[in-house]
Amino acid sequence: MDGRNAGNDWWRHAVVYQIYPRSFADADGDGVGDVAGIRSKLPYLAALGIDAIWISPWYPSPMKDAGYDVSDYRDIEPVFGTLAEADAMVAEAHALGIKVIIDIVPNHTSDQHVLFQQALAGGRGSSDRDLFIFREGRGAQGEQPPNDWQSTFGGPAWTRVADGQWYLHLFTPEQPDVNWRNAAVKAEFEQTLRFWFDRGIDGFRIDVAHGLEKDWALPDLNGLEFPLEADAEHDHPHWDQPSVHNIFREWRRIADEYTPSRAYCGEIWVGRAHRLAAYLRADELHTAFNFDFLMAPWLPAKLRAVIDSTIASHAAVGAPPTWVLGNHDVSRPVSRYAREQEALEPMARNLVHLQHLPADFDLGRRRARAAALLMFGLPGSSYVYEGEELGLPEAEDIPAEALQDPVWTMSGHTDKGRDGCRVPLPWTSDGHSFGFSPEGGAEPWLPQPDEWAELAADVQDGRAGSTLELYRAALKLRHQLPQLGDGVLEWLEAPASVLAYERAGVDGAPSLQSWTNFGSDPIALPAGEVLLASGDLLEGTLPTDTTVWVRV
Ligand code: NOJ
Repeated sequence: MDGRNAGNDWWRHAVVYQIYPRSFADADGDGVGDVAGIRSKLPYLAALGIDAIWISPWYPSPMKDAGYDVSDYRDIEPVFGTLAEADAMVAEAHALGIKVIIDIVPNHTSDQHVLFQQALAGGRGSSDRDLFIFREGRGAQGEQPPNDWQSTFGGPAWTRVADGQWYLHLFTPEQPDVNWRNAAVKAEFEQTLRFWFDRGIDGFRIDVAHGLEKDWALPDLNGLEFPLEADAEHDHPHWDQPSVHNIFREWRRIADEYTPSRAYCGEIWVGRAHRLAAYLRADELHTAFNFDFLMAPWLPAKLRAVIDSTIASHAAVGAPPTWVLGNHDVSRPVSRYAREQEALEPMARNLVHLQHLPADFDLGRRRARAAALLMFGLPGSSYVYEGEELGLPEAEDIPAEALQDPVWTMSGHTDKGRDGCRVPLPWTSDGHSFGFSPEGGAEPWLPQPDEWAELAADVQDGRAGSTLELYRAALKLRHQLPQLGDGVLEWLEAPASVLAYERAGVDGAPSLQSWTNFGSDPIALPAGEVLLASGDLLEGTLPTDTTVWVRV
C-alpha cells in the first residue's frame, strides 16, 4: 500500500469500506459475524485496495436495533468478541495501512444502559432523569404523549413509564433519546471519544448527527414534513436544529488534539445541500455522507445535478465531497437500479418503495458497476458497503418469520425494513452458509438466497470481468493515479445521455476522463488509452449503462 494514508488529510480522499459486523464474517460459528471474522478478512480488504474501514456498532447491546441501541460505549459486545481482540484488529489493520473508523450513537442509548436504568430508578425530577428527555403527558391524567412526534420506525415517539412520566425516543422504545442540554451527557460522550481515540481509532461515523438537539419547547409537528422545503425559513423541532453545531465544534477540538488527526463522518439526512455543508465548516465535522447521491436515480440529468450541487456546496466550506451508493439502511444499488428509474419516487431507497416495481437484476448490476466507476473517479472520498464489490442484490424474499429489523413490527407489518441489505456475505460458492461461518456452524442470523453461490468472493476472485476484479482494478488505479481522489472536476461536452468529466493531470501529466453512457445506443469511445471499463467495450464503442476511464 502506498503512503497516502499516512498524512493528516487521509479522509479527504479515502475509500472507506463499511463493515456491518453481524454480517461480514463469523469466525466462532454462532451464525453472527464477529471481530475475529473481521481480522481474518483484513488481507482481503487490503487486496481490495480500500483505505479505511468503518465498523457499524460493535458495543454491548441488547440488539433491539442491531447494535444501534448501545448499553456500554466503552466495551465490545460479547457476541462480537473482546476489547483485546478489537485492539489486535486495529493494530493489524494499521499494519496493512488501513484506517479504522467506528460508529458512535449519541442521539440515544439502549434502555439497558446504566444511565437510563438510573434515570428510571431516580424518579421524577431527579438529576438522573435529566440525562434523558422525560416529560409529563397531556390529558387530565397525563395519559396522552407530551406531543405529536412520531418514531422514525412508526408509532408515537413517547413511551410511558411506571410512575406516569413519558420519555422520548425518535427510534424504538428501547432507544431513549438523551438530553444534550445536560453537561453530564456532553462529558460522558467526550470521554467515550477519548477512550477510543486513545486506543488508536482513527475516526467516528456519527449516528443521526442531525438529531441531537431539539427545540426544547417540544412543540407539536402539526404535520410538518422533513426534509423541509428548499426555501423554508423555519426549523424543524427535532431534526437539524441550529444549536447542534455547538456540539460538533467541541468534538472537533477533541479530534484535533490527536496526531495524525482523527476524523468524523456525520450521518446527516437534511435534504438541503447548504444545510449539510454547514456541518462541514472547518471547525466542525470533516465529512458527511452524501445521501442525495445515494438516492439519485440512474438518470444522467439527476446525477449531474447532484454532483454539481455537492461539489459547489462542499467547496463553499472547503470540505471534500463524499459519494456513497449504499449502506445497511437502504436497498442495495443493484436492486434500486434494476427498476424503471423514472418510476421511482423521489425518496425511494428501501424495499418498501421498490418491491412493487418489476426488476431486471442483470441490468441493475450493470448499472451498479457503471455507477461505482463513475463514483470512484469523482473528487473526494467514497464509501463502499460490504458486498457491493460482489455485486450483491437486495435479498427481497426473506420470510416474514425470519425478519429481525424492528421496522417490520413497528410499521405494523407494512414495511419489511432493512434486513434485505444485511444478509451475511457469501465468501465461498459451496459449504455451509457460503463460507460466512465455519463448517458445522449455526445457521446465519438471516437466510442467504441460494443464487448467491454464483456471487461468492471465491468465484469472482481472479475471474476477468467479475465485479470484485472491477473494484480491485478501480481502487488500484485510485492509488496509482494522482489525478484521482481530492481535487476538482471539469465536465466535458457530451450528449445529454452521457456524463463525461475530466480530472486534470498534475505537473503536465495526462488527464483522466470518465465517460458513462446512459443512452440506449452505444457511442464512439473517447480518444485516449482505455484504463478500465465497467463492462465490455464492443468494437470500439461504449455500450449503454457502461463507464470507461481513459487517459488522454
Ligand atoms: C441510523 C442507523 O444507520 C440505523 O441503522 C439506525 O436504526 C438509526 N440510525 C438509529 O440509530
